[in-house]
Amino acid sequence: MLTAAPKRIAPPTRLLYGPGPSMVEPRAYQAMSQPIVGIFDPYFFDLVEEIRAGLRQAFGTANQMTFTVPASGSGATEAAVANFVLPESKFVVFAAGHFADRMTIMAQRQRANVVRFEKPWGQVFSSEEAEEFLMRERPNAVGFVQAETSTGAFQSGRAITAAARQTGALVIADCVASLGAMPVEMDAVGIDVAFSCSQKGLSCPAGLSPISISPRAWEWLERRPGDPFTWYLDLRLMARYFEPTHAYQHTPSPPLYYAMHQALAAIEEEGLRNRWNRHQKANERLVEGLSRLGFELLVRNPADRIWHLTTAVPPKGVDETQVRRNLVQKYNIEVAGGIGQLAGKILRIGTMGPLATEENVDFLLEALAASM
Ligand SMILES: Cc1ncc(COP(=O)(O)O)c(C=O)c1O
Repeated sequence: MLTAAPKRIAPPTRLLYGPGPSMVEPRAYQAMSQPIVGIFDPYFFDLVEEIRAGLRQAFGTANQMTFTVPASGSGATEAAVANFVLPESKFVVFAAGHFADRMTIMAQRQRANVVRFEKPWGQVFSSEEAEEFLMRERPNAVGFVQAETSTGAFQSGRAITAAARQTGALVIADCVASLGAMPVEMDAVGIDVAFSCSQKGLSCPAGLSPISISPRAWEWLERRPGDPFTWYLDLRLMARYFEPTHAYQHTPSPPLYYAMHQALAAIEEEGLRNRWNRHQKANERLVEGLSRLGFELLVRNPADRIWHLTTAVPPKGVDETQVRRNLVQKYNIEVAGGIGQLAGKILRIGTMGPLATEENVDFLLEALAASM
């Protein structure tokens, strides 16, 4: 009898030097093949609690309401916006990149009155600018992107939160790209709602997005007039699963939790600060190397740069698409090009998690030099 060969897959082993997905922490990979447990198994709740504790550390918060949204980063953005931005309310977005535009569109779809403070892509906002704008607009909520992956610019949020507090506005921060690789410091900065993803600074696969909500924002949510226009991303419903009531809302995917648990354990063992320093050092080395190769950095001021996602303008005559093609074909290296108004103009090079080392930066630079 003829037997058909079993169908197998063999994805290529790429080196993910892009803005995410990034390389998965090796022990997170291993954890994903552990047995699946039920979603009310006491073992699972213990694991989830440890993850929540690890996420509080990474966010720099004491917020009890810290848990995971079953989605990629955009799902967490939508959850934050749909829950905390009311129809007809005024929502100010600090906009200098693609992901601020995405937050804008999501809030418009919630029928909010969105007022954008725009700057050229790659720039950040000063406290004077933020204060002047917020005092004039007096919004109900404010949104900004901490690590704007489309431009490589980092805005801690300190320049925005002080003025937002004065006007009583809730502050929502897109920390999709910063968590786990750079300081989010949510409580110290004064962010009310911070959300992230799993596939960048945390070195996990995509699909599970951390979110953290301050007590004052949670109180606001408890008293929010009307339900949000989303059921799946209703944070009050979702939280009931994570809190002691453990009420069913959606079915969590245990392998993603196993991966996140192990990735957070690796972060804890390395030490968050050590991990940040490692990313910063890798960035310094990468920037030096890129300058030697004739690249210019899109974000001029070093203090405004994301450490683990560097945006570089190629030297004249170098075609970024061809460079990226060569990198994949010859070295199995994936880096990204620009998006939106920066498409075709820049390379976006990620040195995240396991790739944020001297050797891995040097390897990337050598491959890049040979691919130009
Ligand atoms: C800053 C920022 N926000 C939001 C997103 C959207 O996340 P996802 O692609 O996981 O949906 C990304 C993804 O690159 C991002 O970099």
